[in-house]
Amino acid sequence: MEKLTGLRKIKTAVFISGTGSNLKNLIKFSKTKKSPIVIDLIISNTALAKGLRYADQFNIKKKVFNFKNNKINNNNILIYLKKNQIEFICLAGFMKILSSSFIKKFNGKIINIHPSLLPRYKGLNTHERAIKNKDKFAGCSVHYVSAKLDSGRIIMQKKIRINAKDTLISLSKKVLKKEHQLYPDSILKIFN
Ligand code: GRF
Repeated sequence: MEKLTGLRKIKTAVFISGTGSNLKNLIKFSKTKKSPIVIDLIISNTALAKGLRYADQFNIKKKVFNFKNNKINNNNILIYLKKNQIEFICLAGFMKILSSSFIKKFNGKIINIHPSLLPRYKGLNTHERAIKNKDKFAGCSVHYVSAKLDSGRIIMQKKIRINAKDTLISLSKKVLKKEHQLYPDSILKIFN
């Protein structure tokens, strides 16, 4: 990845599908002096994503692409990103799968946050599976996005202990809190 020259921040889009707590956290981080990125665009696959309100709150451009036709959509998004001179993409709770040609065009420039210690528990319901398997640890990972789901090179991970008393709700909350540290830390690691 290109090294920063000091002044210029990397023009970034965040893709969401839901609540957007990672998005909000990334926006706050992007406004700090040490942040190498500036968030210029928020993309969602649904107008119902609660996180879209942060676009209004922080005065950031937003755009919804419904994924009814995946191929057309991926192309349309690429065109839109180019028009907005987006250089870097952070997926944050984005629930759609991007096409491999899309990923190729942004090779090494799309990252994702996943709520497990990858390669353990790719896909959905990660905490449920960790509890069911009586794992001692859970955590989160930030990784580069590759064509294979949740399989790209890992940038950073954070691990937490699962206590006997932990429920799905308590574990989800604890991991999400760690995610909010991990995502900015990973971005700093990439660009510094
Ligand atoms: C997070 O747990 C993230 O790891 C996963 O989806 C969740 C999104 O949460 N990919 P939020 O929308 O950022 O609050």
